[in-house]
Amino acid sequence: MGLLTHLSLLVTDLDHTLVGDDRSLAQLNHLLDRYRQTYGTKIVYATGRSKTSYQELAIAKSLLTPDALIVSVGTEIYLNAATENEPAWVDRLIANWHRDRIVAIASRFADLEPQPPAEQRPFKVSYYLSASVAAAVVPQLQELLLQQDLNAEIIYSGSRDLDILPSGGDKGQAVQFLRDRWQIDPLETVVCGDSGNDISLFKYGKERGIIVGNAQSELRLWYELHPVNYHYLAVAECAGGILEGLKYFRFVE
Ligand code: GLC
Ligand code: MG
Repeated sequence: MGLLTHLSLLVTDLDHTLVGDDRSLAQLNHLLDRYRQTYGTKIVYATGRSKTSYQELAIAKSLLTPDALIVSVGTEIYLNAATENEPAWVDRLIANWHRDRIVAIASRFADLEPQPPAEQRPFKVSYYLSASVAAAVVPQLQELLLQQDLNAEIIYSGSRDLDILPSGGDKGQAVQFLRDRWQIDPLETVVCGDSGNDISLFKYGKERGIIVGNAQSELRLWYELHPVNYHYLAVAECAGGILEGLKYFRFVE
């Protein structure tokens, strides 16, 4: 039995990562609550949902109150109980972000079906795109945005959702921003996810990464193409996979 590693920060996606298996969620919540009180562990949710849609889920699933909330695929950060997107974060996203021009370009693609208005955010434009045409449409859209010199990142998740965000405004960059702010070591940080919009959580630093057993093909493929010993693909699903990964990295017994 070796020593445990200190867990300073746990970042997790919500749908199909933290949430999806109620029994394991209750077990993990119990552990995280204890870790927060005993070791000061910070908890951050990083979700594709809007803040309003997050709040509905938080009530329905009795989620622990996080120390910071990253919503709308990384483009909004709410520290503690702030009601405003973190101003220093907004400053970073706003440069060369021309939402109207991006919407105009995307409207040329008949296959891109806009998501409901509640999911359209100041720094996030979202569509549905069928998997059968995604491989053709995404590079064309990317090319057009590049030609127009627009600062944008395209993220395709779950073989269904296509988000356009300011580049550098994804979940992974939002986590780097918070780690800097809180001065937290990546080796004491865990990031957890299941789908395409979580890839950025794993790709910038050396945070310990847990990919839950039910992960979508786009994240599994990325994991296979980027093998490193600080990422772990769990067998168990959702919160059960997070618990498994925390044990694997020896953050818990
Ligand atoms: C969430 C959001 C949606 C987004 C998707 C993938 O489901 O509600 O707008 O496209 O995540 O990032
Ligand atoms: Mg998810």
